Amino acid sequence: LKIKIDRNLGPSIVRQIYQAISDKIMSDLLPNGSKLPSIRSLAKDLDISLMTVVAAYNLLEEDRYIIQKHGKGSFVHRASSNQSKIEDKHLWQHSYHDYLPRAPFSNNLIQYKHVIPLSISTIYPGLYPNKFIENQLRKVTENDPRILTTYGDIQGDLELRKEYTSYLKQFGIITEPNQVLVVNGSQQAIDLVARTFVGPGDYVIMEGPTYPAAIDVFRARGASVLQVPLDDEGIRVDILEELVEKYNPKLIYLVPNLHNPTGIITSNLRKKIILEIVSDKNCMILEDDPWSELYFDTLPQPLTSLKSMDKKGKVIYIKGSKVLVPGCRIGVLVAEGSIFQKILSAKGYSDLGSPLLSQKILQSVLSSEHLNQYLEKLRIALSIRKDYLLEKLTNSNIPSISWTKPNGGINIWVTLPEWVDTEALLQTAILEGVSFLPSAYFFANEPIRNQLRISFASVDELSLKLGTEKLIHCLKRI
Ligand SMILES: Cc1ncc(COP(=O)(O)O)c(C=O)c1O
Repeated sequence: LKIKIDRNLGPSIVRQIYQAISDKIMSDLLPNGSKLPSIRSLAKDLDISLMTVVAAYNLLEEDRYIIQKHGKGSFVHRASSNQSKIEDKHLWQHSYHDYLPRAPFSNNLIQYKHVIPLSISTIYPGLYPNKFIENQLRKVTENDPRILTTYGDIQGDLELRKEYTSYLKQFGIITEPNQVLVVNGSQQAIDLVARTFVGPGDYVIMEGPTYPAAIDVFRARGASVLQVPLDDEGIRVDILEELVEKYNPKLIYLVPNLHNPTGIITSNLRKKIILEIVSDKNCMILEDDPWSELYFDTLPQPLTSLKSMDKKGKVIYIKGSKVLVPGCRIGVLVAEGSIFQKILSAKGYSDLGSPLLSQKILQSVLSSEHLNQYLEKLRIALSIRKDYLLEKLTNSNIPSISWTKPNGGINIWVTLPEWVDTEALLQTAILEGVSFLPSAYFFANEPIRNQLRISFASVDELSLKLGTEKLIHCLKRI
């Protein structure tokens, strides 16, 4: 069991041990029945007192993650777990160290087949122009029958990079094809940036809450993650400035437009201040922009990227193809200078380049004359879904709950009374036949527990209606 302790971090060492172990248990990396290291050996490994480990294990037992058996040791024991029994012949594998902080929580929810997944931040396949994509697939293979037997350029297909250069202008990004790297989705871009620049002992600052899979990438690199709360205008720059001064972070990861999970749009003034904060620091910003195309008509202004304001090459910008053809698993990264060259090298030794077929399909979607029309239809469909969900929440008259009214994107962020633990509530919801993502998943350290994310885009309309009813039923019973 690899646990990293950071003596400078806010949460106590007891809390850090508790968090690391409970994260692994909750995400099934430590299944029911797994034996935890003995108190003595963990204390020795981490160079801490026996009493600290005892306190952490007691807390885990109190919260019903483990049981401690006198003379035998401590074992994972989740009463409500759906985890399969570990086979005896594989038991030894739990003492084979890994560097995973936790498995993606949303994967575990996929196991519940009968459940309507309002937990997943994806767009229902029926909302994409599938016929058009199918035709493009045929055309691409007809035009180049060797496409599946050819390696492409590591940096990505030049035609696609040119296409992106013009596509990104709408977000104020003026770049050239040689500053664009094609990646396998923005998830790979986060991973490439992390493996290139982030290592043990480094600090990474993120919004709190933030996109869970980015937390996992940075923590798996051994970094200490610090999170900064948001208000209506985006990340709290007063706190950000203080943390940058104190910890000298290597990287700041941000989703400034239609933030996941809250939908908040960082104001232009805040964006300017963020750039000023890092201006003279040896610190880069990673700007993740998955869906700024998905703004609703309530928006007061077009969305400006941080990258468009970046005069010094401080921002690495990434965009996936979530709103276009997510199954192609293609996205782009834009950066300059030696920062770009180093990430390009990392791409080379990670996978030697993205699949050409996927790139060509995305290129044909990007260059299609129907693109704007399709995006407009998608925005309208999503806006209708959002209004539906908000209306249902309003009419439910549940006391002491509030929610965001997003100006775009695909999620609603709900706040429940402070005493509610949404991880526990999820178990009830699953029995009811619906899922959401509890707020604890969106935090790297001590989490906020009384919030949850609902995605209104992931399922067909009927399932959205059914799922909403089931969810409201659960919320009424808290
Ligand atoms: C903020 C954010 N970044 C990155 C991703 C990964 O997207 P992809 O790898 O499909 O581009 C997601 C997916 O939900 C996301 O929400």
